[in-house]
Amino acid sequence: MKLTPDVFITGRSFLEDEVKGKTVIVIDVLRAASTIITALQNGSKGIIAVEDMGTAGRIAQNLDSSSYLLCGEKDGEKIEDYHLGNSPVEYEESVVKGKTLIFSSTNGTPTLVRCSGAKEVIIGSFLNAKAVTDYLRTIDNEIIFVCSGWKSRLSFEDTLCAGYMLHQLVGTVLPVSSPDGACVAFALYQQFGSDITDSVKNSNHAERLRKLGFEQDIDYCCQTDVSDCIPVMEDGVIVRKV
Ligand code: MLT
Repeated sequence: MKLTPDVFITGRSFLEDEVKGKTVIVIDVLRAASTIITALQNGSKGIIAVEDMGTAGRIAQNLDSSSYLLCGEKDGEKIEDYHLGNSPVEYEESVVKGKTLIFSSTNGTPTLVRCSGAKEVIIGSFLNAKAVTDYLRTIDNEIIFVCSGWKSRLSFEDTLCAGYMLHQLVGTVLPVSSPDGACVAFALYQQFGSDITDSVKNSNHAERLRKLGFEQDIDYCCQTDVSDCIPVMEDGVIVRKV
């Protein structure tokens, strides 16, 4: 790693051209990235991230119905008639092993689609942060953390996670002249990183999820460095790198 990675604060705060040639880590702590990591860890064959339900339906029409599951949420709630919602705890081995998942979410999957022109697209969250940063240390390419956010707005938990990964990469002092996005994420982690679960529980999206009855997802997604699964996008399908 040569330069301090930049942090794009939402999935819409950049032009698609800006990620070309870069290594991008798409973060959506609550919950799309955490769900994707869990699904691949539990043996899903691959995940096709789509920006909307119409695209999901068109892809499904061309697949054998026993080979895929339609997955995802709109505003946090499971989409009617889909097999699975976006709660990572639903993605058990008995459900997802060997299956292709067609996955649509409010912010995470549209962000993934916007980043698909990057040289390398990795999916990261607190669950696999160490595995991701261990990998990033081995490459020379320019790195950008892209926080999915919520409907063009900043999400506390995504920015905090970018700060956590930056902290793992650079240590306790951010190099001078680091990009502003990196400075903000790093400072957020310095301020709130001593109790990730507690601070994420105060975030806007955690409150939204609690109201929808997904309290256990918040605890699950705040676990740090518990997965060595690194999801990467290859020819439009997210598969397990390691
Ligand atoms: C998203 O993509 O916006 C999220 O993953 C929403 C959610 O928590 O389901």
